[in-house]
Amino acid sequence: MKTVTIFDTTLRDGEQTPGISFPLSYKIQIARQLDKLGVDVIEAGFPAATKGEFEAVKEISNLGLNSKIAGLARIVKEDIDAALKADVDMVHIFISTSKIQIEHTIQKSRDEIIQLSVEAVEYIKSHGAECMFSAMDATRTEVEYLKQIYKAVEEAGVDIVNVPDTVGVATPFKMYELIKQLREHLSVPIDVHCHNDFGLAVANTYAAVIAGANQAQVTVNGIGERAGNASLEQVVMILHAIENVRTNIKTEYLVETSKLVERLSGIKMPPNTPIIGENAFSHESGIHAHGVIREASTFEPGVMTPEMVGHRRRIVLGKHAGRHQIQKILEDAGYEVDEDMLTKIFERVKDMGDRGKKVTDLDLFTIAEVIMGEVKKEERVINVDEITVITGNKITPTAVINADVFGEKKVTSAIGVGPVDASLKAVTELVGRKIKITEFKMDAITGGSDAIAEVYVTIEDEDGKNFTSRGAGTDIVMASIDAVINAVNYLMRRKMRQND
Ligand code: KIV
Ligand code: ZN
Repeated sequence: MKTVTIFDTTLRDGEQTPGISFPLSYKIQIARQLDKLGVDVIEAGFPAATKGEFEAVKEISNLGLNSKIAGLARIVKEDIDAALKADVDMVHIFISTSKIQIEHTIQKSRDEIIQLSVEAVEYIKSHGAECMFSAMDATRTEVEYLKQIYKAVEEAGVDIVNVPDTVGVATPFKMYELIKQLREHLSVPIDVHCHNDFGLAVANTYAAVIAGANQAQVTVNGIGERAGNASLEQVVMILHAIENVRTNIKTEYLVETSKLVERLSGIKMPPNTPIIGENAFSHESGIHAHGVIREASTFEPGVMTPEMVGHRRRIVLGKHAGRHQIQKILEDAGYEVDEDMLTKIFERVKDMGDRGKKVTDLDLFTIAEVIMGEVKKEERVINVDEITVITGNKITPTAVINADVFGEKKVTSAIGVGPVDASLKAVTELVGRKIKITEFKMDAITGGSDAIAEVYVTIEDEDGKNFTSRGAGTDIVMASIDAVINAVNYLMRRKMRQND
C-alpha cells in the first residue's frame, strides 16, 4: 500500500491569506495541533520575512514536536541563514522558473538560476539540514527546463523537489502527465503544491499523487494566497477512503483541527464544505434520512464515516422531513407516539418548514407534547427575573442572573470571554446540571443594528444526548440565554415526567 507524506503550510502559505496574521501564541497552538494530527512536516513560516516571523519559527522548531519543521527561504544566503538560525529541520528554497516570472521578476538567465539553485542546495546540505527545492510556477515552466533544474538539484543532494502550481492553472490531466514525466526522470521524492484559483487544487493534488508524487503540500481548510491551497482534509480523505493510499494523519482529529484554524484565522468554512463542514454528514430529506437511519451508507459514502473524521451525523428537520425521521428523533428522546399523533406532528413540522422555519429538536418535542396533550400550560421550571451583564474595554465580561428555579429564588454569576459566554455559563451554573453547549450559531434575520438575532444552540445533556434549541430577539445576550433556558426547561420537564 502506497504511503504519501503530508507537508502542511497553513502557517506559511495559509498565513498569506489576505487579512491573516497569526500572533505567536496562535502559531504555537496550530503547530501543536498539526503535530497531534500527525502531519509529517510543518512549514512554520518564512524566517527572513520579519523579526517576529523568525522568532515564531525558532520557537516552533524548539517545541520538541514529532513533525519536522520547515522554513521558507529565497535562494539568497541571508534567507537561508535565517532559516538555519531558526533551527529548522528543513529549508524550503524556491526560485521562479517560468518565462513570465523570470522576465518580469528575477531577470536572470536560466543557467544562472540552475547554478544558484545548486549552490543553495549544497550550502544547506553542508549545514546538516534537509532541503526541499521548489521551481516556482512549475506548471507554466517548459518541461525540459524543469527536468534540467530538478536533475541538477538532485545531483547537488536535495532531499525532495516540489512542483508548485503557483497560479492554479493546472488541470488534473495535465498535472498527472507532468508528474508522471518527472517521476520517470528523477530519483528524489516529489512533492506538489497546488493553488485553488479554478477550484482544482484538491483534484490536481490527487492526480499528482496517483501519477507518483510522494508528498502533498496542503493547508487546513484550504486557506492560502488568493483562492487558497489544496485542503488537507479533502486530500487526506480522498487518499485514505477512496484510493487506499495511506498518510500518517490521524483522521479522527480533522474536524477538531479545522475548527481550531477556523477560530484562529477568523475564516469561517461554509456549512457545505466537504469533510469538516457543518452539513457534511447532515441529512434533511426524508428519503435520505430514512435510508441513513436504517443503514448509513445508503446516503453517505460509506468508506468515510463521521467518526473517521471526528464529525457526527445529524438528522435535521425541515420541510423535506419524513415520518421515519421524525419518529426516530421522538423515539430516541423517549416519546411514544401512535400513528395518528405522528401524522399530526408530521404535518406541523412540514408546515413550519414551508414557512421557512428551521425546526429545532425542541420545536419538535414541543409540538409532540402539545399533540400528545402533555403540555396544557407553559410548564417553565426556570423563569429568569433579572440579568445584569457587564462588559467593555479592560473589563472581564461578567453576568449575574436572578431567577426562579422550581419556585426557589437563585442568584448566579460567571465570567466569560464575552458577554454571551459569561451569560451562558451563568445559566448552566444556575441550573446546576451537567449540560454542555456543544454548538452555538447566531443568524441576523433582519438587517441593521436593530436586527433580530436568532440563536441556535446544541445542548448535550447528562446522558451525552444532543438536541437543538432556539431563542430569538433583538438583544443577542437575551436571545442566547433564551435558547439555553428553553432547552433546560425542556430537560427539567422531561426529568420530572420520568420521575412521575
Ligand atoms: O505557490 C508557490 O509557488 C509557493 C512557493 C513558495 C512554493 O508558495
Ligand atoms: Zn503557494
